[in-house]
Amino acid sequence: MSEPSGHWDAELFRREGHRMVEWIAEYLDGGNREHSVLAKVQPGDVAAQLPNEMPTFGEDPEAVWKDFLDIILPGVTHWNHPGFMAYFGITGSGPGVLGEMLSAALDVNGMLWRTCPSATELELKVLDWMRQGLGLPEEFFGFLNDTASISSLLALAAAREAADPEIRRRGMAGPAMRIYASDQAHSSIAKACLTLGFGLDGFRAVPHDAQYRMDTQALATMVAEDRAAGLRPLAVVATVGTTSTTSVDPCVEIAEICTREGLWMHVDAAYAGSAALNEDHRWCIHGCERADSFNFNPHKWLFVPIDASAFYTRHPDVFKRAFSLVPEYLTTPLSGQVVDLMDYGVQLGRRFRALKLWWVLRCFGLDGIRERHNRHIAMARDFADWIDAEPDFERLAPRPFSVVCFRARPRGLAGEALDEFNMKLLEQVNASGDVFLSHTKLDDGIALRVAIGNLGTVETDVARCQELLSEGFACLSNR
Ligand SMILES: Cc1ncc(COP(=O)(O)O)c(C=O)c1O
Repeated sequence: MSEPSGHWDAELFRREGHRMVEWIAEYLDGGNREHSVLAKVQPGDVAAQLPNEMPTFGEDPEAVWKDFLDIILPGVTHWNHPGFMAYFGITGSGPGVLGEMLSAALDVNGMLWRTCPSATELELKVLDWMRQGLGLPEEFFGFLNDTASISSLLALAAAREAADPEIRRRGMAGPAMRIYASDQAHSSIAKACLTLGFGLDGFRAVPHDAQYRMDTQALATMVAEDRAAGLRPLAVVATVGTTSTTSVDPCVEIAEICTREGLWMHVDAAYAGSAALNEDHRWCIHGCERADSFNFNPHKWLFVPIDASAFYTRHPDVFKRAFSLVPEYLTTPLSGQVVDLMDYGVQLGRRFRALKLWWVLRCFGLDGIRERHNRHIAMARDFADWIDAEPDFERLAPRPFSVVCFRARPRGLAGEALDEFNMKLLEQVNASGDVFLSHTKLDDGIALRVAIGNLGTVETDVARCQELLSEGFACLSNR
């Protein structure tokens, strides 16, 4: 029998693998700085260089590598770059990349305990390590999802199950359910309402206070009004580290209201949850020990390559009630005696995500993680101090962690003209290729954000960002 097209053997894997590992090592060691953080391509540029049909015959991996360098890489926005300060700065760290590589090599599907005992047991173990690191209660049962969006979706589905055990059989019926979150909550909460059939009307945006935290007085009033109107308040989503400003909702007060009103409390700590591994920042999750569910994203600020969202609940039984559905072909002799992670959510297939987390937690340790967070926070504090001292700029929100919201303040500009100036400044800074910032809208208008979270970021990167802002300001205001 002749060999199929596309020769591949261990020798070739070794050769190409070494080449790739060398490249990754260089990339993580500063090679990333040679690229523009924000891809400098126009829509369609990448696609235009790619064939419209897949190859009929296997190609030489060297040719694939060359196309990666020549076609794909120029169209990459480099999230793993020291100058990446947009959205939330993140890091696919060396240990995380190694864990990811092993996970791909093993290619296990951890849907059942039996289909990879290590995948289930390592996942439960590292989630429990982090639970302890966060000081959350022992009864919190944790597992991994891909993203915070899915974690929140599952939480709200479980809240629905807890409130109406008939829903699983019958589907939605009766008074419309309502979910409460601050108007600063991530759009994934409203999306979960769309997905779960609460509808966008089912999402109630609670106003924020002067520091962009949920106004809990308003929450209590809205719950009371909805009840009086015959609606069914179901759950409150508190955010620890909102997407725009990283503000922290008053979780103790929210927990009080949830207890009093019989509502499910879910906490979305996607970004800031990692900071609570450090006792200095533990304040941000006070009250979360009373939550029904809680999630944070190791792929945001725990140096784990995307994707990994850690999810905890004190009601694993409710999740099983909501989601477990076991056809004959998925039963095993140990069904019911072991944790089968397929029972706790929508997905069946499950990557071995815990491996990369395990590598990072072991190679950095709690202390190393805390130190890295503190460095990021110190750089953000220095940047905020610089903004406060600069007459041409102003800060638009408090800086609890490593994100600073600010804007340029040219004399004589206000309203839309001021927003336009700031958007132009943003584009000018981003065009440099040295740093990439993003923006948001706050009460006062458009705010620019500097979000520090990459392990390669050092003070000179922040200084470069300041220089670009000052130069851009001077250029746009014709100074
Ligand atoms: C507070 C918060 N929740 C949820 C998300 C969505 O995260 P993911 O992409 O993991 O779904 C984000 C993203 O920035 C976020 O800031």
